[in-house]
Amino acid sequence: MKRPSIRRIVLGVSLPALLLVVTSGPQPAFAHKAKHTPAQLRAFEQVFIEQVKVGDLLFHGDEATQKRLGVTLSNTGMACAMCHPYASDTHPYTFPKFQEQVNKFSTLRDMINWCIEKVSEGERIEEDSSAMKALEAYIYWSTRGSTLEPGTH
Ligand code: HEC
Repeated sequence: MKRPSIRRIVLGVSLPALLLVVTSGPQPAFAHKAKHTPAQLRAFEQVFIEQVKVGDLLFHGDEATQKRLGVTLSNTGMACAMCHPYASDTHPYTFPKFQEQVNKFSTLRDMINWCIEKVSEGERIEEDSSAMKALEAYIYWSTRGSTLEPGTH
């Protein structure tokens, strides 16, 4: 009797397996196809707005919030808002882009740290820190609804 070729064995095993995967209901990767409920959306918005509020405090130099999060955003007595009266003045929708000041392709987070270190003589904050996320939330919130124009000036 002729022995079945390897190719036949592989096909024989993998084709039914593939069919099983394709036909056996929703997979974890498609889980987000389910619409969020209004209650879930409200909860998400609440989490976001809480972050925006923390970012607002940081942007305006609130000492207690900086202390709580263990950050020193400025040592000149100048808060972000003194130079950028509106957070939207920092044009978050234009990032990432080439930034002359640092001669580098930069993200919003890079520029937040640039201002903290170079302009405000503070201590740079971790990219994934609570303070960075809150500042980012506040700055993006300030331009909600605007069109993304990455790479522009
Ligand atoms: C003493 C004034 C001053 C303070 C305080 C300051 N900045 Fe800035 N910031 C500047 C200047 C000057 C620039 C560079 C010019 C520009 O791009 O607008 C800049 C640029 C930026 C940019 C890039 C804007 C763009 O369109 O490229 C971001 C983002 C930013 N600052 C965020 C912050 C944050 C967040 C803080 C507080 C942690 C802060 N800045 C504090 C003066 C300041």
